[in-house]
Amino acid sequence: MCGIVGYVGKRDAFPVLIDGLKRLEYRGYDSAGVAYFCNNKIKTVKVTGFIKELERELGNIEDNPKIGIAHTRWATHGEPSITNAHPHTDCTGKIAVVHNGIIENYRALRQYLTERGHKFTTDTDTEVIAHLIEDVYNGGTDMPFWKAIRGALREVEGTYGIAVLFSEEPDRIFAARHGSPLLIGAGEDEYLVASDAAAVLRYTNRVIYLDEGTLATVKADSIVISTLDAESITPKIEKISLSLNEIEKGGFPHFMLKEIFEQPQTLENAFRGRLNLEEGTARLNGLKDYFDDLKDVERLVITACGTSWHAALIGEYLIEELARVPVDVDYASEFRYRNPIIKDNEAVIVISQSGETADTLAALREAKRQGAPVFGIVNVVGSTIARETDAGVYIHAGPEIGVASTKAFTSQVMVLEEIALLLGRMHGYSMAQGVDLIKEIKRVPELVELFLKKEDEIGTIRKIAEKYYMCNNFLYLGRGINFPVALEGALKLKEISYVHAEGYPAAEMKHGPIALIDKNTPAVFIATEDPLYDKIVSNIEEIRARGGPVIAVATEGDEQIMELTDNVIYVPQAVPLVMPMITTLPMQLLAYHIAVIRGTNVDQPRNLAKSVTVE
Ligand code: G6P
Repeated sequence: MCGIVGYVGKRDAFPVLIDGLKRLEYRGYDSAGVAYFCNNKIKTVKVTGFIKELERELGNIEDNPKIGIAHTRWATHGEPSITNAHPHTDCTGKIAVVHNGIIENYRALRQYLTERGHKFTTDTDTEVIAHLIEDVYNGGTDMPFWKAIRGALREVEGTYGIAVLFSEEPDRIFAARHGSPLLIGAGEDEYLVASDAAAVLRYTNRVIYLDEGTLATVKADSIVISTLDAESITPKIEKISLSLNEIEKGGFPHFMLKEIFEQPQTLENAFRGRLNLEEGTARLNGLKDYFDDLKDVERLVITACGTSWHAALIGEYLIEELARVPVDVDYASEFRYRNPIIKDNEAVIVISQSGETADTLAALREAKRQGAPVFGIVNVVGSTIARETDAGVYIHAGPEIGVASTKAFTSQVMVLEEIALLLGRMHGYSMAQGVDLIKEIKRVPELVELFLKKEDEIGTIRKIAEKYYMCNNFLYLGRGINFPVALEGALKLKEISYVHAEGYPAAEMKHGPIALIDKNTPAVFIATEDPLYDKIVSNIEEIRARGGPVIAVATEGDEQIMELTDNVIYVPQAVPLVMPMITTLPMQLLAYHIAVIRGTNVDQPRNLAKSVTVE
């Protein structure tokens, strides 16, 4: 989704801005632009398509500004075009704005401003911000510009992270946020403004996370922050522990493949120091202050979007199985508008890789409004969701750059295992059972590594991809705890190879999807050994009887399945409770190889965004 980078300092701004935008590319975008000062006048350069184009354009410009703002746009209002690309300016061209988020009352504001003589040139919601600031500024006498920004933002409904240049104050960037992420990177006599830490990391690891409803005036040697109610705020500098290596491809052709292969490590990071073998429980210090609530909890709601929602479904199985506490899983976008029922002794868990997903954030706020304790399972440290939850557990998967989530998903499941174990031990799961489960959990990184090193299995996946990449429909079927894995497999394929795929509980396919089966519609079954194995074999037979090709993910040593299916991918043996973290791997790799053969943009699939900061 839209990305913002701003720079003020001693360096040439263009290379810093371009480098920052490239680091934000993964968020998804369709056009890009820059605004800077030339002889105290604002100039803008915009392109559609890739940042490389913008880099080329800037390369032809002789100016060497030391200050500028830049943006990658993910279209919401108005098609992707040079006109609609940010930065947007006011009538006089003295104010330039880049924006991430959505201005919900932009129609009313646009009409109001048009009636007051402002001329709009784009279809975007963002343009109203530039004109509104201009209008407020011109309406006051001797009004400092930052006050005009504040006045304008008070009229705005919706979400925004913005960076603004004003040609009468060409030594500074104004930055403000409400609902969309924005941080300031603090270097030596230089500052960066960015939507995400990856954009500033090359220059500094010291950041100031802007709080909701704050406005910053950023000069090369100073920063002043206040709330929109004019209360001054002392900037709090935090050190981020990201390294540049973590946000580079490290020899892999795609970030997605790199991230798939990182899973042995990321899974281990998700449980390091958190498993207490002696007592057969999980040690989750982040939740410590809420242990009493968790002991008394009578129902949990888990809410999330996309892949994180699939992890939530696995969490439902795990928590209900281990703790016998009822769990409801809800899409955050549905939860937030449903007037959800949350009673005393109930709690909410939100799951988000980015920690910025607008619907998940709104669901979290709704749950808090209703007085429920809200816990987070988040990857990005310092993100809005991480900061607004009452307590939580970081998954520590490191930066996930590929838009299609892979390592974050398995790590979310790992953390849900820990939460289920902790709750289980509070609600009757025995110590002996806990000890056994911990031993199985600890084997997972090793089993994942074993699978990823198996040339023949990876080769089988590649061959399956070559055989079926032309198919236009796939079914993904699983049962029990592996049903959400089927959903995730189908989502991965849709996201990166643009092939239609549906995930279903295997038994449910008889009630509709089986009508789709023909020789060109492969069905991918998760058919590992568990109590439902025989049932899933019957479902495989049903597809075979109708001439559909069957691909099975099965447990090593299962020879029977060979005879029943066209292709088998073997995964190492593990207990069903941890199996989703293993069966997910062939799902990710199959989608990856099909996408590569089909020639799609694996890391930045069309129309998708990594961090969905609009609802
Ligand atoms: C977007 C991403 C998905 C992700 C979903 C939820 O759609 O493309 O990969 O699963 O948002 O994101 P979150 O950051 O909240 O987990």
